Amino acid sequence: MYVPRSSIMHLIIICSCLLLFHNHVQAQLLQICSNTANYTSNSQFQTNLNLLLPSLLSNGPRDGFFNTTVGTSPDTVYGLVQCRGDASTEDCRRCLNNSVVDVIRKCPNRKEATLRYDLCIIRYSNTRFFSHVDSNNSRGIANAADVSEADVNRFNRQLGNLFNNLSTAAASVTTKFDLGSINYTNLNDIYGLVTCTRDLSATQCSSCLQRMVNLLPSCCENSIGAQVFSPNCHIIYELFSFFQNSSQSPPPALQGSPSPPPPVQGTGNACKFVNIVAIVVLAIVAEDVARRPTMASVVLMLNIYSVTIPLPTAPVSVSSNRTELGGKIKENGASTNNSSQSVLPDHG
Ligand SMILES: *[C@@H]1O[C@H](CO)[C@@H](O)[C@H](O)[C@H]1NC(C)=O
Ligand SMILES: *[C@@H]1O[C@H](CO)[C@@H](O)[C@H](O)[C@H]1NC(C)=O
Ligand SMILES: *[C@@H]1O[C@H](CO)[C@@H](O)[C@H](O)[C@H]1NC(C)=O
Ligand SMILES: *[C@@H]1O[C@H](CO)[C@@H](O)[C@H](O)[C@H]1NC(C)=O
Ligand SMILES: *[C@@H]1O[C@H](CO)[C@@H](O)[C@H](O)[C@H]1NC(C)=O
Ligand SMILES: *[C@@H]1O[C@H](CO)[C@@H](O)[C@H](O)[C@H]1NC(C)=O
Ligand SMILES: *[C@@H]1O[C@H](CO)[C@@H](O)[C@H](O)[C@H]1NC(C)=O
Ligand SMILES: *[C@@H]1O[C@H](CO)[C@@H](O)[C@H](O)[C@H]1NC(C)=O
Ligand SMILES: *[C@@H]1O[C@H](CO)[C@@H](O)[C@H](O)[C@H]1NC(C)=O
Ligand SMILES: *[C@@H]1O[C@H](CO)[C@@H](O)[C@H](O)[C@H]1NC(C)=O
Repeated sequence: MYVPRSSIMHLIIICSCLLLFHNHVQAQLLQICSNTANYTSNSQFQTNLNLLLPSLLSNGPRDGFFNTTVGTSPDTVYGLVQCRGDASTEDCRRCLNNSVVDVIRKCPNRKEATLRYDLCIIRYSNTRFFSHVDSNNSRGIANAADVSEADVNRFNRQLGNLFNNLSTAAASVTTKFDLGSINYTNLNDIYGLVTCTRDLSATQCSSCLQRMVNLLPSCCENSIGAQVFSPNCHIIYELFSFFQNSSQSPPPALQGSPSPPPPVQGTGNACKFVNIVAIVVLAIVAEDVARRPTMASVVLMLNIYSVTIPLPTAPVSVSSNRTELGGKIKENGASTNNSSQSVLPDHG
């Protein structure tokens, strides 16, 4: 699909505006409330969980990562929180503060839950999940607009190079995080970010990130921006600098990019003049098509963003034993302030 440059600029401006609002509105990306085991009110498990969550909240922001274990078998509860490597301590605390409240509200009585947001993740379980990789719960979000046909080959090649470079770097450091940019034309850069939860080994992180990259074509092929994530790792790319720390030195430009300033249109005032609406599609990415080809189900989230009334990305909510298959659905040009979520029925 060819998208005129001006449309792309509009989308970029909207994305930039959304970014500005993101400090206030935390988008939730992933919600997994396990249905395999529940606790009862006033049980020892609940007592332990009620000790765990404040501990995660108070210890998480210090270093951006914290995992701990509370209680003894059979009521042991394992918990982990992590903030994105570019989040400020303040944003980290805000995100985690929200997450410990959300996780009880959204996954009531569950013995296992995961919530991932833009800037943080919270996980707890009655089973020890540290250093284990969950490969059943990957999701993708694609921006509705595509890179122009003329650029698509170089774009995809450079996107692959960027993610390879970032993944190698992230896997090898304790923060399990890296960000950077690469050019795909003389004037245009791709900005990327990759991260794993810090309980993963370098090898686990590397293969988790590789899996996310491999899933990109099934949800997000040729999109001007996308994210793929699981409970363990997360990749993001955009055509503008979406990184949180604005005072941070610019990301290393790979392969001699001249690094023109990112097309973020600065202030909130610029947003007022934008009157088109971007639709971002959340597509569920297949991971085991071969295993259950007939269960190819699609859960799509249709989020219509407005610049006047920014709304958070609605969560995906699935039981942890389901695997979804999805493709990218692209929509353009809707003009409404509304935000809606479409859950498409399973096929077969
Ligand atoms: C998923 O888990 C629920 C509750 O444990 C169970 O009822 C359901 O059959 C499971 N579905 C599949 C496809 O395994
Ligand atoms: C746990 O609670 C959820 C929500 O009420 C329910 O759907 C699920 O079947 C329960 N799981 C078990 C194992 O009882
Ligand atoms: C936190 O996770 C690491 C990595 O799996 C593990 O070695 C460590 O024991 C965990 N900490 C606690 C308190 O369980
Ligand atoms: C955390 O949330 C509570 C309300 O649940 C609020 O009073 C407090 O100010 C919040 N702290 C931060 C740092 O956002
Ligand atoms: C993922 O799915 C496979 C195959 O259904 C299952 O054996 C495994 O237990 C699942 N893993 C998790 C973490 O749910
Ligand atoms: C990035 O990846 C490309 C291709 O894999 C490689 O040639 C290049 O040296 C890498 N750059 C950095 C800075 O690692
Ligand atoms: C990146 O920018 C450099 C310097 O302007 C240029 O030589 C190179 O061809 C560009 N790379 C791509 C893929 O366009
Ligand atoms: C943000 O960038 C500044 C300057 O590079 C650095 O000192 C600071 O630690 C960074 N903050 C975070 C949260 O990365
Ligand atoms: C969008 O919201 C603005 C401000 O709330 C309102 O003035 C405008 O009429 C709305 N547009 C649509 C299409 O609903
Ligand atoms: C969005 O549209 C739906 C269906 O038309 C309606 O029920 C809902 O109230 C609308 N929400 C907003 C915020 O306008």
